Amino acid sequence: MKVAGKQYRTVWMEGSSVFLIEQNLLPFDFKIFEARTYLDTCRAIKTMIVRGAGAIGATAGFAMAQAYLEGADPQKARAEIEATRPTAQNLFYAVERVFNAGKDKAAAEAQRIADEDADCCKKIGEFGVKLIIEGGKTFNIETHCNAGWLAFVDFGSALSPIYAARDQGKKVFVYVDETRPRSQGARLTAWELKNENIPHAIIPDNAGAYLMSLGKVDLMIVGADRIARNGDVANKIGTLEKAIAAKRYNIPFYVAAPTSTIDKDCPSGKDIPIEERSQDEVLYQTGPDKSGKMGTILVCSPGSEAINPAFDVTPAELITGIITEKGIHRPDDIRKI
Ligand code: MRU
Repeated sequence: MKVAGKQYRTVWMEGSSVFLIEQNLLPFDFKIFEARTYLDTCRAIKTMIVRGAGAIGATAGFAMAQAYLEGADPQKARAEIEATRPTAQNLFYAVERVFNAGKDKAAAEAQRIADEDADCCKKIGEFGVKLIIEGGKTFNIETHCNAGWLAFVDFGSALSPIYAARDQGKKVFVYVDETRPRSQGARLTAWELKNENIPHAIIPDNAGAYLMSLGKVDLMIVGADRIARNGDVANKIGTLEKAIAAKRYNIPFYVAAPTSTIDKDCPSGKDIPIEERSQDEVLYQTGPDKSGKMGTILVCSPGSEAINPAFDVTPAELITGIITEKGIHRPDDIRKI
């Protein structure tokens, strides 16, 4: 992905430092954060300087490699890294691989995981683009949250087919769910699409069903944080509602994710741990005022409490297909992969 003409990945390692695009500052400021120790990298995952399943996974792999380089106790470091965020399967997948690689091979293994993430996302684009059939008129896609290149090492999962379609000269338009409370759609997906010159509009989270009812959505593609063996999918809160609406209006509902997001030890969506986050994310919003000065303001009734589950589970029966680097699968075929 290019930003201001320069090629970037969301996360990379140089020497013993991990470098990350500071996602909490986007879309207002573009800065690179340097995590010098594995504990710095843990904090970066926890505070969502880096977020999105694939990007969290690659970062966690690098953190495990840093721990080995620092001579930290590998068991303790592994537990600390795994405690940063509970839902994205890619985190556990990457930490396990780098932990098992051992001290001498850890950095190379972490790099391999990051490279594989980018390669898989590119392939997801190549398979997924076949679903975008514009037939002379603009093809309208709705997406939720951010499953673009910011959520991975490069390319993205749900946005990768859209980038491939653009490269093939297909006319696409993207409805971007704002994705409250952290607004990954309004802030990150919209910023990515703008960078890529892809026509899009941010829509309120509660507008999707209405647009579907008007026939304005041809396809919905979302990412995934964890896929259970039975094809149930955990993704950003609000995904389930979109899947129900898509079913009601006969709109194909696809999930795009690398196979590193599949949890072979998880029988069904009921077994996926769902992160509960601070109520402050619902109650407050952060951004620049008209003069450009950043600030945080209360946007809810003072004194009211909020509940903030970060993910929900969409049952396999509502999912038309799952796009991975191996192809497009029916949800009930996931157990075969
Ligand atoms: O809380 P986040 O921003 O780390 O949430 C993860 C996500 O970005 C989404 O759920 C996404 O759709 C799947 S991860 C590529």
